[in-house]
Amino acid sequence: MKVMIVGSGGREHAIAWKVAQSPKVDKIYCAPGNAGIEEYAECVSIGAMEFDRLAAFAKENAVDLTVIGMDDPLVGGIVDVFEAQGLRVFGPRKNAAILEGSKAFSKDLMKKYNIPTAAYESFTDAEAALAYLESAKLPIVLKADGLALGKGVLICNTLEEAKDGVKEIMMDKKFGSAGNCMVIEEFMTGREVSVLSYVDGKTIKPMTSAQDHKRAGDGDTGLNTGGMGTFSPSPFYTEEVDAFCRKYIYQPTVDAMAAEGRPFKGIIFFGLMLTEDGPKVLEYNARFGDPEAQVVLPRMKTDIVDVFEACIDGTLDQVDLEFADNAAVCVVLASDGYPVHYEKGMKIEGLETFRGKDGYYVFHAGTAKRGEDIVTNGGRVLGVTATGTDLKAARANAYEAVQWISFANKYYRNDIGKAIDEA
Ligand code: AMP
Ligand code: GLY
Repeated sequence: MKVMIVGSGGREHAIAWKVAQSPKVDKIYCAPGNAGIEEYAECVSIGAMEFDRLAAFAKENAVDLTVIGMDDPLVGGIVDVFEAQGLRVFGPRKNAAILEGSKAFSKDLMKKYNIPTAAYESFTDAEAALAYLESAKLPIVLKADGLALGKGVLICNTLEEAKDGVKEIMMDKKFGSAGNCMVIEEFMTGREVSVLSYVDGKTIKPMTSAQDHKRAGDGDTGLNTGGMGTFSPSPFYTEEVDAFCRKYIYQPTVDAMAAEGRPFKGIIFFGLMLTEDGPKVLEYNARFGDPEAQVVLPRMKTDIVDVFEACIDGTLDQVDLEFADNAAVCVVLASDGYPVHYEKGMKIEGLETFRGKDGYYVFHAGTAKRGEDIVTNGGRVLGVTATGTDLKAARANAYEAVQWISFANKYYRNDIGKAIDEA
């Protein structure tokens, strides 16, 4: 069988690696891919937003299944374009990907179906948003409605900050049209957990839990990033929390989407906050997390192609989804200065050290080929993942493997997974 993956980051590398384990698969394409994905897939230089070219490529090359890794093409309707041409594709249609594409939509859905989340109001008018802030409790959270590369969320401690935030989002359009509408919501405190799940329109199978580290610096300081590292499972995600989420969050979300005439097939990523009043939804995403995928997929035992097919065919209830009883930690190696200013084009050395070492992985996020060399080509460069019998062992292994890699402006956090010491 031939599989195509759409995307180019560490997440897509982890998906390609996992797809390559399937005995059913004899050829993988990745569009556009990166220098690491080339090990498993033939990279095709078609952009993720070029839906017609991607569909034409899938037809010409008799691709049996296309897997969409990224949010932009999903929210833009790539699945509808593929389906209209009779192509098999894994991911939500446009009318379901709105679960990630519009924060106002997802908040309204949660309110209507009593799914626990922070209290909120949504606004399409800046004056009304500013007036609302006058009597709002601080700190307060502002969210641009649409996709904003994970940067459209502002946590404001003072009224001044919040007013400036509304101006930036709605008037200055700092996040473009994502700011035509915004959500203002209650600030929550607690542990954050990411739970990714497979969904076939009616059945949902949650994967093992993970936790991301979004800030650039040690001790959760500095700017928000796409994610500087992850660990899995989260020791704070207990069986009791899991049971609550299955009953009051996961299945109700899938049922709500179906009831709205927007059946969701693909991945729902639940960003959860474990508050004093119980777990609440911070956000939904309609795809694997990055770098959550880099710790969850190496622990998945089930053939992922079978799961993708079951989601498309509506037979997920017949799948036995299994994860190893171990742990994984992923440390992101970034270019110093990320997420603001950083240099690219630095030669990366040591990648070959990972070859043949069971339980150690190096997923490429921003790399490119230059002649025979592999060089840095982004803010997040590599995700170094290691498994272990428990989280402490996995963390020690991951930080050992971090030392195998060198490049001139290598930067990483030293405290990925440190929270587990408090568990
Ligand atoms: P989001 O893109 O919605 O996940 O938001 C990005 C990050 O902002 C989350 O991972 C949280 O750390 C934080 N955040 C979002 N919403 C809230 C909230 N209501 N209360 C506290 N922190 C929040
Ligand atoms: N790591 C968070 C995300 O993928 O959105």
